[in-house]
Amino acid sequence: MDKVTTLAHPNIALVKYWGKRDEQLNLPAVGSISVTLDELQTRTTIEKLIGKCQDEIIFNDVIADEKEAEKIRKYIDLFREKSNEKIYLKVATSNNFPTSAGLASSASGFAALAKGLSEIFELKLNAQELSRIARLGSGSAARSIFGGYVQLHKGILPSGEDCFAEQILTADDFPLKTIIAITDKTPKKVSSRKGMKESQQTSPYYNSWVESSDNDLLVMKKAIIEKDFFTIAEISIQSCLKMHSVMMTTQPPLIYWNSKTFAIIEQVLKMYNEKFPVFFTIDAGPQVKIFTFEGEEKKIIENLKNLNLIDEHFVIGIGKGIETIED
Ligand code: PMV
Repeated sequence: MDKVTTLAHPNIALVKYWGKRDEQLNLPAVGSISVTLDELQTRTTIEKLIGKCQDEIIFNDVIADEKEAEKIRKYIDLFREKSNEKIYLKVATSNNFPTSAGLASSASGFAALAKGLSEIFELKLNAQELSRIARLGSGSAARSIFGGYVQLHKGILPSGEDCFAEQILTADDFPLKTIIAITDKTPKKVSSRKGMKESQQTSPYYNSWVESSDNDLLVMKKAIIEKDFFTIAEISIQSCLKMHSVMMTTQPPLIYWNSKTFAIIEQVLKMYNEKFPVFFTIDAGPQVKIFTFEGEEKKIIENLKNLNLIDEHFVIGIGKGIETIED
């Protein structure tokens, strides 16, 4: 195969991952559970270059800066080593959503890249193997290989063999809706990779965060299988606020929220406490991801708009895993 195009969607963790048990192999210190999104996507086209000895990397139609390009070239090296093929590639990738603003562009980015590279290098990887190799690019990318509700196992083996993602339920099994409330589009100041390392080294709450995660995963998995919305909501809110407590108590502090983020949390909690089916989660950025049942999203958006809390938002369903498409 000389050319391939793949599609992947970002995902949002309901039980969060923050911290690594092995930095080199990018192994997470905690497992995580996420939902893969529908309409937001990364599209990546990979072509073999003839007579070239360097990969060309293009992001959203512009040649990538050297730092970004080097990261991708190093990632492609893994596939060159695995296949023993010294070919160089043109990789053109684009997102239909803002990059690096807490919308998990690295998850869909590395998932699409892992799938495309495994096709180009004819590695015939199954979904579990793809998930492991996507993880080497970005931890959350391991989850975007699958659609619906997905668990990433942290594993215990030093090799990382047992660290991969698996689907819990499909999107159709439990079709929730997500409202992504954009509060600020500027790229985040501290990357997840750097932030996690600092939290691990300095937050006094880091160890209890890691210890409490196994129970969150057990309860969340059961709640998803039983489609128990309010337990999913309770664990999701807890996991998000625990992760942000670790972030905020890192030295120097990692505060990804702005005043709108906080005001939206207050409103969502108010509705949740009145037993409206709604909950929120937030990643390493200021956007708030709000979950509800299909058909209930209008009431939430109206409420937030009336209070001037959102300018821009997306309403998104739960989506599928990675795919290869015909150009
Ligand atoms: O793997 P990364 O670098 O995309 O880190 C993901 C970290 C969070 O988005 C904050 C949490 C998560 O589990 O997705």
